[in-house]
Amino acid sequence: MRFLVFCLVALGALWMAWAQDARVGELLPREATFENPSGRLTVLNADGPVATKGHPFFEPVGTNGRACVTCHQPANAMSVSGDAIRERWRASGGKDPIFAAIDGSNNPSLPQDQEASHSLLLKRGLFRIALQWPPARNAEPEFTIEVVSDPTGVNRDPRWGLTGVAHAVSVFRRPRPVANLKYVLEPDSTPFNVKLGVLLDKDPETGLPVSMNMMADARAGTLKIQAEDAYRTHLEGKKGLTPGELAQITAFEKQVYVAQTWDRGAKELTGGDGPGALGPANLLKEQAGVLNSPAKPVFLSFAAWQKDTEFRQSVARGNDIFLNRQFWVKNVGHINSIGLGNPAKRSCAVCHNAVMSGMDRAPGWVDLGTTNYPTWTEPDVASTTAELPVFKVTCRAEAKPHPFLGRVIYTSDPGRALITGKCADIGAITMGQFRGLAARAPYFVNGSAKTLMELVDYYDRRFDMRLTGQEKQDLVNFLGVL
Ligand code: HEC
Ligand code: HEC
Repeated sequence: MRFLVFCLVALGALWMAWAQDARVGELLPREATFENPSGRLTVLNADGPVATKGHPFFEPVGTNGRACVTCHQPANAMSVSGDAIRERWRASGGKDPIFAAIDGSNNPSLPQDQEASHSLLLKRGLFRIALQWPPARNAEPEFTIEVVSDPTGVNRDPRWGLTGVAHAVSVFRRPRPVANLKYVLEPDSTPFNVKLGVLLDKDPETGLPVSMNMMADARAGTLKIQAEDAYRTHLEGKKGLTPGELAQITAFEKQVYVAQTWDRGAKELTGGDGPGALGPANLLKEQAGVLNSPAKPVFLSFAAWQKDTEFRQSVARGNDIFLNRQFWVKNVGHINSIGLGNPAKRSCAVCHNAVMSGMDRAPGWVDLGTTNYPTWTEPDVASTTAELPVFKVTCRAEAKPHPFLGRVIYTSDPGRALITGKCADIGAITMGQFRGLAARAPYFVNGSAKTLMELVDYYDRRFDMRLTGQEKQDLVNFLGVL
């Protein structure tokens, strides 16, 4: 068994080496296992081995040498880790297509051969996302945007900036995992966004409601729309994807599952009578669309580990804190503003309530505060050490203000509001899934938490949780095995 695992890991490493320099291997096996700092992650292709040669997810179908896999790597839980990005810079002398000027640099107008021009990607794993302003589907937004601080120069650039040719707001975001997508795509059980009391967006082809849980701002409702957008932007594709290519991409995306399967502390994560949520086979087996309940908690039961090794006991305690530890959730738009009260004594699972994924059953954009001053992860507004742009957003007098931040808001990423133009959505970021976290640091939309401990520390500060050192470690150990 140990030898088999070793072989799979070796095979995985080999496959990676091929995939990374775009000479993709011929076959991604049904199960491939990859090393990461805290253990091993397994990628499961439910429909069997994937022939990657000629496959539009794995081959550069655009114009800049990139493929989808460039930023959605099997070894990194189908996202891409900061470590993998830095390694590619080192190995390619900055020539790898992942560093393409368009969004793999701080600003396409900067000299591209310098490391400093790619600092946000190299230091924080962030790609530039340029969103047209005002948004196409909402020509009269409730607020105006000014660029207050522009460390990359891109938002004031005559070509790429807000008042430039592009008329775009550039924000910088982490890639999200392209795996376990049934959990991301399953719409809520009602056709309504229950938080806001409005209808969910619809799939233009089927007319059916979509989950609105994809991308940090839910701007793409379906995998097709998303893939076409990724092709035009990240791949700088010009001709458009053919229906056959689109079908191949979305078919691959729907059948791929990832999760940790081995952990340095907890050891084997799957098999036997261990926790039923771990490993990709359980993600394949379980139903999507189930809401957290005492009968079926978010990551099922860790009872089997309550009387096991010290490390496994710590994981079980971490799960218990995640589910049950109550703290005062405060000033979070679309949580404290929807009748739960402000503050509201709740646990992590009030937001992260979808079974197996840790996402939100309802559309999951809330302004936890990672991108809005003063709770954001960045230095003070006036600081000269800022790495991310700062925007000043001013809500029009007749608009309904943001429920907790009023009419003038400083933000490094307005999130959902860039799509809806609504003050109430400023800084609202869609919760992503919790799977394969160990393989894809850094965390949060803006890559501000370098480690899971930094992520937990953010919550501890944000909600004054007063976690002990041991409790923080328990949460970290728990998140790391998912
Ligand atoms: C240059 C890097 C890059 C490339 C290349 C790329 N992506 Fe992405 N992908 C991202 C980023 C960044 C996000 C998150 C964007 C956001 O939240 O606004 C993302 C998000 C996604 C998501 C949403 C996942 C979720 O759960 O929210 C899907 C699906 C996806 N990409 C598919 C693709 C496909 C298909 C391709 C190829 C056509 C592709 N990507 C190419 C960087 C990339
Ligand atoms: C008020 C709602 C809310 C609560 C409570 C909450 N979260 Fe989150 N969580 C979010 C949002 C929103 C995001 C996405 C924010 C971002 O990416 O900047 C997120 C993201 C995450 C991520 C994903 C990070 C990534 O980059 O993929 C993890 C892990 C996480 N939260 C853990 C926790 C833990 C542990 C707790 C309890 C201590 C908790 N959350 C409590 C709303 C919440």
